[in-house]
Amino acid sequence: MTGGAPSNPLRSPGDRRLPRVPDPCTLVVFGVTGDLAKKKLIPAVYDLANRGLLPPGFALLGFARRDWQHGDFEQLAREAAEKGARTEFRESTWDRLTDSMKFLPGSFDDDDAFDKLADMLRELDASHGTQGNAAFYLSIPPTAFPTVLKQMQRTGMADNAASGGWRRVVVEKPFGHDLPSSRELNDLVDDVFTAQDVFRIDHYLGKETVQNLLALRFANELFEPIWNSKHVDSVQITMAEDVGIGTRAGFYEGTGAARDVLQNHLLQLLALTAMEEPVGFDAESLRTEKRKVLGALKPPKDLDAYAVRGQYDQGWLAGERVKAYRAEEGVDPASRTETFAAVRLEVETRRWAGVPFYLRTGKRLPRRVTEIGVVFRKAPHLPFSKTDTEELGSNQLVVRVQPDEGVTLRFGSKVPGTTMEVRDVAMDFQYGEAFTEASPEAYERLLLDVLLGDASLFPRNQEVEESWRVIDPIEQHWASRDDGPQLYRAGEWGPRAADEMLARDGRVWRRP
Ligand code: BG6
Repeated sequence: MTGGAPSNPLRSPGDRRLPRVPDPCTLVVFGVTGDLAKKKLIPAVYDLANRGLLPPGFALLGFARRDWQHGDFEQLAREAAEKGARTEFRESTWDRLTDSMKFLPGSFDDDDAFDKLADMLRELDASHGTQGNAAFYLSIPPTAFPTVLKQMQRTGMADNAASGGWRRVVVEKPFGHDLPSSRELNDLVDDVFTAQDVFRIDHYLGKETVQNLLALRFANELFEPIWNSKHVDSVQITMAEDVGIGTRAGFYEGTGAARDVLQNHLLQLLALTAMEEPVGFDAESLRTEKRKVLGALKPPKDLDAYAVRGQYDQGWLAGERVKAYRAEEGVDPASRTETFAAVRLEVETRRWAGVPFYLRTGKRLPRRVTEIGVVFRKAPHLPFSKTDTEELGSNQLVVRVQPDEGVTLRFGSKVPGTTMEVRDVAMDFQYGEAFTEASPEAYERLLLDVLLGDASLFPRNQEVEESWRVIDPIEQHWASRDDGPQLYRAGEWGPRAADEMLARDGRVWRRP
């Protein structure tokens, strides 16, 4: 690596509290006019600039098919930043950023455009002092990955040694469609970039509350001794959205809820919940422990009973009538794509043997909420009369990932009065109340980590492949069946089969 911030004599080597600022560099965004770039990436770049976390020698280079001039790009970027940024919009920040912005029109199979891109990167080294450092963000359809990667290889753009600095690539999910295609993609990426320079984005790992799971488990003495099958009855991980598929039919029709969310976000949350303590919080140690969990996951034997899919029908949400999935624009009226998926998995390790992990995700559910609920076993003996504990449920620890970020602990307490009646109560930690600092957006954190070269929050290819190993049999089973997903009314918590799945085990879903 070249460049780098001068070392601070007041800071001890392990102290990461002071803001870290990346080396001078260029961020190249392929597909810069797309939704992800507009809604997340450009606002995140702006927020980083506003927080003073981008190096003085920084350049943002947008690449897209549009026949645009620099001014058009600047306009789009400004609108995106004004609309999507988390921090206040300041003209001074914006002016500094526009000085470093460039746009290059071109299609992915256009050799000329890529030769120009290579030239532009060299020019930026001279004009902006970017020292040969560049990160390439592939915010493009997965079908375009091979073409772009090959262009980068052809032009030598991915070559650390030739550039004199570092070269990194950021790959957006989905990483393939199943295990064979993800292996193919991984081989291709690894052929062009060295493994440590590949950053696979799972934006859930960039969420503050997800990282807090590690603090909760490994910085405290309280929870770890009971974090095992002796005390935990089951774990429920829910990622619910009230929105439908919006304008994403083209992507979603061939993907579905299991590939879109379960294979990545939910399995990563499961891995963080179930993993052993890493020896450190460096990328290698964290990824090693997560991978062990994913490798120990067993897909359900009875797939009919424990892998449920659903599709939203028309219904009412927040007082508004909403369409059925099959009536959405661009969706096949006979579509069998699932918009809801729920599954029961087990982690075959000594710590978790016999503990079911129930995962569910869906669109057009009653509200947007993501949470991890750890449900504890009942006390082995209750020295109270049966009627006194009628309203006592299981103790639960709930990590509220979003939107009401925090942690809830549910336990039984005595109801005031002359009897010994015990009822569930909740103890709450809320981010908004406990801290004055607002949490950075996931993409803000992850983009910064890419530029810093810190891969701790990015899944490694083996994790991705283990995740497909779990999902593939489920997808194959669904594809082999004559019936499609069970319909659920928009605004309800998924299809009946999801409730039946838990009822079969004598359990119920938490109502978040
Ligand atoms: C994306 C999925 O990865 O995550 C989307 O492709 C989903 O379908 C989105 O809507 C949800 O992200 P968040 O951060 O809003 O929970």
